[in-house]
Amino acid sequence: MAIALLLHLLAATLWVGGMFFALWILRPAALPLPLAERVGLWTRVLERFMVIVWGVVITLPATGYWMIFMGFGGMQGVGGHIRLMEGMGWIMIAIFLILYFRSFRPMQRMARELLIPETGLYIEKIRQYVRINLILGLVTISTAGAGRYW
Ligand code: HEM
Repeated sequence: MAIALLLHLLAATLWVGGMFFALWILRPAALPLPLAERVGLWTRVLERFMVIVWGVVITLPATGYWMIFMGFGGMQGVGGHIRLMEGMGWIMIAIFLILYFRSFRPMQRMARELLIPETGLYIEKIRQYVRINLILGLVTISTAGAGRYW
């Protein structure tokens, strides 16, 4: 249980922390760069971050359901805050998959063809998905952590 919870917490921290850093720190800091440099920077940043997020979207449900079935005796043994987290988790994962296949992959194709404004448009779409997932992630962490005291 301890190892599963530890991996679960690390995965949630990397995902939500990474999205927070991207939107609130890196984005404003990168805005003054010329478009071509900014697009290049974001392409490299997103390619590295996506690898981490794939690990996260496998680790979170795997460790979560491990805890539920091995530690809490199945779904009937868990509180409402865990069911809420489960639901929010799947919504976040679905948004990530849409983002990945509908925006990130085309972004990579545009970047390979050196179509800078088109790449930038896909980066902007990714930003909108990430903004939604950041809000959901912060709400999920808050309800997951404080939910047991409700
Ligand atoms: C399929 C998705 C998920 C499942 C099945 C799941 C399940 C669980 C379970 C069983 C626990 C242990 C609760 C306890 O010890 O009382 C837990 C803890 C936690 N989960 Fe998830 N989770 C999922 C997704 C997420 C997501 C997406 C996040 C955040 C982005 C998240 C954040 C947390 C946090 C912060 C805790 C620690 C709560 C605490 O013990 O104080 N989980 N999760």
